[in-house]
Amino acid sequence: MEKKTIIVTGGSGKAGVWIVKHFIEHNYEVINLDWKLPAEPLCRTIIVDLNDLGQVHNALAPFSGRNRSKVEGIVHFAAIPQAFTHPNDVCFRNNVMNTYNILEAAANLDIDKVVLASSESSYGIVFAGEFFAPHYLPLDEAHPQLPEDSYGLSKVVNELTAEAFHRRTGMQVVSFRLGNILVPESYAAIRANFADTESRKRILWSYIDARDVAAACRLALEKDGLGARAMILAADDTSSDRTTKQLIERHLPQVRELRAPLEGRASLLSNALVKQLLGWKQQYYFMEQ
Ligand SMILES: NC(=O)c1ccc[n+]([C@@H]2O[C@H](COP(=O)([O-])OP(=O)(O)OC[C@H]3O[C@@H](n4cnc5c(N)ncnc54)[C@H](O)[C@@H]3O)[C@@H](O)[C@H]2O)c1
Repeated sequence: MEKKTIIVTGGSGKAGVWIVKHFIEHNYEVINLDWKLPAEPLCRTIIVDLNDLGQVHNALAPFSGRNRSKVEGIVHFAAIPQAFTHPNDVCFRNNVMNTYNILEAAANLDIDKVVLASSESSYGIVFAGEFFAPHYLPLDEAHPQLPEDSYGLSKVVNELTAEAFHRRTGMQVVSFRLGNILVPESYAAIRANFADTESRKRILWSYIDARDVAAACRLALEKDGLGARAMILAADDTSSDRTTKQLIERHLPQVRELRAPLEGRASLLSNALVKQLLGWKQQYYFMEQ
């Protein structure tokens, strides 16, 4: 059987490597678009600056257009993945323009499914100058997105760009609002620092294993009729050894409205929507890693 092709952007990065691996394991032909080579070559990488629409078109053209039936979609993870590592405008421009260019090229080349990496940072708590608490818990897709930093703002703009392209061509664009992405080597340091419950407060102790992210990306590309949808993709549990009630009592006493029982180490980011729409299930739990 002929393999289906997918394009991964940012496939040389932390999460991207696991996404590339996952799709290869599921019998896809994977092309990685990144401006740097991966540490270990797993698939063909084309070095592209995704800020340049000409380069994006030219890189995608051989796999689309006439040969479109072979391209399942694009998983777009290339970005500067946090605030303040670069000047604000550099982060904003890179993340917003490279996403716009991917969607513009997909529209022009008849690629009709895209997955975007959005972030829980789009809610604005992580990089706020002054900490503010969520309006209610667990956070869900209806909670207002209130970023003041250019990274969180770039993710909000990208979700809106996705909606615009869906209106323009009908393409399906799923934006995952990802919790903190962990790879196998991430767990030990967090475990060693469990006692410092303050350190992961601003991400609401969220996490998601990169292997679970990869599976969700595949489910999103294999599903039809999702339109332009943003959904939280976070683990069922937290990355803390305390109970969630203890974390709230100690660090978030301002939050009065609890919309779920939050028993045990239940996550403060609701993943109900991704389960309902994609049938996604978590495989990699913090305490088992
Ligand atoms: N790491 C997290 O905890 C986290 C949490 C939420 C969302 N995200 C999002 O997930 C995605 C992946 O994050 P990551 O941690 O793997 O980041 P990463 O920095 O490890 O990987 C990003 C990759 O994108 C590439 N890239 C960036 N801009 C590019 C451009 N203009 N052209 C070509 N290549 C470019 C980089 O070379 C890199 O390989 C990002 O969109 C990030 O915002 C990450």
